[in-house]
Amino acid sequence: MLYTATVLLWAFALLSTVYFYKKWASYKAFRAAALQHGCKRPPKYPHTDPFFGTDTLRERNKLKKQGRLLRSLGAHYERLGKTYQEKFFDLTVINTMEPRNFQQVTALGFGDYSKASFADAYPMFGDGILNQEGAVWKHSRNLVKPTFARSEIADVAMFEFHFERFLEGIPRDRTTIDLQQPIHKLFLDVASEFILGQSIDSQLPGDPNDSTGFLKAFDDGLGEIAKRATIGKLSPILFFFDNKYKTAYEKLHSYVDIHVQRALDATSPETLQKIDDEGKQTRYILLHEMAKQVRDPIELRFQILHVFIAARATSSILMANMIFNLARNPEIWTELRKQSLALGDQPLTFELLKSLTFFRYVIHETLRLTGPSGRTRRQAIRDTILPVGGGPDGEAPVFVEKGTMVALDLYSLHHDKEIWGEDVFEFNPHRWEGRKPMWEFIPFLGGPRMCPAQQQVLTQSVYFLVRLTREFVRIENRDEVLEYVETARGTVESRNGVKVAFFSS
Ligand code: HEM
Repeated sequence: MLYTATVLLWAFALLSTVYFYKKWASYKAFRAAALQHGCKRPPKYPHTDPFFGTDTLRERNKLKKQGRLLRSLGAHYERLGKTYQEKFFDLTVINTMEPRNFQQVTALGFGDYSKASFADAYPMFGDGILNQEGAVWKHSRNLVKPTFARSEIADVAMFEFHFERFLEGIPRDRTTIDLQQPIHKLFLDVASEFILGQSIDSQLPGDPNDSTGFLKAFDDGLGEIAKRATIGKLSPILFFFDNKYKTAYEKLHSYVDIHVQRALDATSPETLQKIDDEGKQTRYILLHEMAKQVRDPIELRFQILHVFIAARATSSILMANMIFNLARNPEIWTELRKQSLALGDQPLTFELLKSLTFFRYVIHETLRLTGPSGRTRRQAIRDTILPVGGGPDGEAPVFVEKGTMVALDLYSLHHDKEIWGEDVFEFNPHRWEGRKPMWEFIPFLGGPRMCPAQQQVLTQSVYFLVRLTREFVRIENRDEVLEYVETARGTVESRNGVKVAFFSS
């Protein structure tokens, strides 16, 4: 008994010493930064659970269920300032909506942060461009990057092929259609063709490749990851009584593995030698290019899956949200249609699409108001400094201790009244006239890890909009809920879908 008590006492003394030593070291580092750089503490979130910060977890879960998480976070910034600190179990999290801090974290101080790897996403994602760091990330980036540059021109014809199938599914008799799933399918077909070299053809009648099952597995997997992200350190609990995640990612992997094997066969040294000897020209396919360098099937599966994940639920959400906004602002549709008809018979080349300014404004405004990426996070890998956010006026630099998480709140940045004006929640593409935003508008982020597909996304979006506005005279909203209710699953989309009707005369 006495022995147990002594052991417990020693353990307690040891833990307390470690705890207080860490506190002291942390304070010393802060003092040094304060003296040298004028750092001040950012405002602290007034937790009702000051030990673990579980109050924010409960609150955010509630808001998420109500579909208004991102917008509600704005209230914290209004109360505390554009940068504030909170606790999340043993982590210190600095939330920020300050453009200068975004620039620091993603570009100027790029080497001070890592991608805040998230273990619960690992069974589905494995290692790939989205979660790698340093030289291995650079290698993955170099594997992917040339594809985007080479695809820009060829993309337009490939996109038209799939767009025509999409168009066939839109009723012309003014009946209501929810476009959300059809748009997801269109972009699944486009992305699979671009990335795997073979479309999943989800738009074909009879669904020959079980794309429905594939999409369900994909969404279930992302939903499970988002669920685990919300409960943080408690997520291992789900492992014991929630099999949905495993079922989802196993299905996803089995689909991708078929393509991986095909690519490995097509790029074996013997096959490549044969192609070379025969002087054949082969198509440039991302998976095949990767397979020439990555011969391990599991590594290749995850590499390609990463690009697929980044592609799948982003462009489609942007397009769906664009239709969501246009249905509520039909006068903008009329303006777009006038311009798309004025193009006459000109072929829709990459250069022509790029020159259509008002179309770009509509896309930018959709990205600003209802963009697919709400927040992203980075973790400090060494002691560093954010340029602003400290002190009562939020203007002093902030000391960021190694291990601290910085949450970059894209949604709040894009809804900052000081940048966008009082009508920040209105859909108004005209606000872009004469505006050249830098770090105030970064839906694709900035710095070395900026989305490599930005140009491709913009080209495809303009193409989609030009074709659709040429086809239909009018769009009408058929959703009785006018506001945008969120579903957050890594990316954010409309919970009520996109219910509209089109008028062809
Ligand atoms: C509306 C469409 C899209 C938006 C708004 C978007 C936005 C973003 C953002 C914000 C990031 C940075 C994430 C972070 O580091 O935290 C990113 C990265 C990335 N995106 Fe996109 N994206 C879109 C479409 C696409 C598409 C269609 C593809 C592929 C075909 C793609 C491929 C990637 C890849 C590979 C990365 C990782 C880059 C790296 O870490 O080096 N994205 N995207």
